[in-house]
Amino acid sequence: MQQTEHYSVLLAETLEWMNLHPEGVYLDATTGLGGHTAAMAGRLTSGTVIACDRDAQSLEMARARIETCGWLGRVKFQQTRFTGLTETIKKTGLSPVNGLVADLGISRMQLTTPERGFSIQHDGFLDMRMSQDDEEGITAADIVNTWKEREIADLIYELAEERRSYRIAKALVRARPIRTTKQLAEVVAGPAGFRAKIHPATKTFMALRMKVNDELGEVQALLDQIPDLVKPGGRAVIITFHSLEDRLVKQGFQRWAKEGRAKILTKHVVTPSSREVAENAASRSAKLRAMELI
Ligand SMILES: C[S@@+](CC[C@H](N)C(=O)[O-])C[C@H]1O[C@@H](n2cnc3c(N)ncnc32)[C@H](O)[C@@H]1O
Repeated sequence: MQQTEHYSVLLAETLEWMNLHPEGVYLDATTGLGGHTAAMAGRLTSGTVIACDRDAQSLEMARARIETCGWLGRVKFQQTRFTGLTETIKKTGLSPVNGLVADLGISRMQLTTPERGFSIQHDGFLDMRMSQDDEEGITAADIVNTWKEREIADLIYELAEERRSYRIAKALVRARPIRTTKQLAEVVAGPAGFRAKIHPATKTFMALRMKVNDELGEVQALLDQIPDLVKPGGRAVIITFHSLEDRLVKQGFQRWAKEGRAKILTKHVVTPSSREVAENAASRSAKLRAMELI
């Protein structure tokens, strides 16, 4: 079952910090279901949004949404992950762009589609690859079934600050083979113990997802490319949901500011209003940072 309701996190704030020009070319590096892309396209006249995502299924759904809005002529879709952005954008002949947005993490569609293997609630093969075309990439099943107990413990401690990482890793190794999300959730729930607000396996699922998709490495690659992607005077707006990612973004922006390549616009991180959090609880950990290229 998929949740059809779609919220784009910090949408009004993103548009404000992007400072769009109707004739500009903008890059949405994480199109997802196209919420930010559609909102940007709606503000353009002769401008273009280059809508990228590593996930082909998301891009298809975004395309359908943009078509319904009647803005297909303003959007170019490209399947790529951050590591390939500069090359992909160069090929469109539209680089460098006037601004870039990235709304990190996974979408609710990915999270709630059982076959994608991210869901604690719905059973499916333990996949967790954001791009299922990525045949060489590892799956979460590969990690839980082949890594050493110590390596699994370190992974879930480092990426998710799971205090019971050793007990969980031990239980996982003992329960091998683990093939499905439900099986993983049940095995982890024992040693992880009861937690009032979140499912006891939430942290383990998050750490596995981050490793499978090399999410921190990808964010670093995105940050490194910003001056090649965005013109002087253009802006980069990045939304994170994880403290390690936010730290990378903060440090990445500081690096470009120190090198005289950019000016940081958000002295303090921008967070969702209490109204947004009430409407969409998943937005509660979102943090937005913006910088302008010089
Ligand atoms: C939170 S969703 C974006 C939602 C979107 N802003 C919207 O309003 O519909 C994050 C998206 O980023 C994509 N993504 C995450 N890491 C990526 C990467 N390294 N390269 C390309 N896309 C990535 C995911 O596949 C997912 O579709």
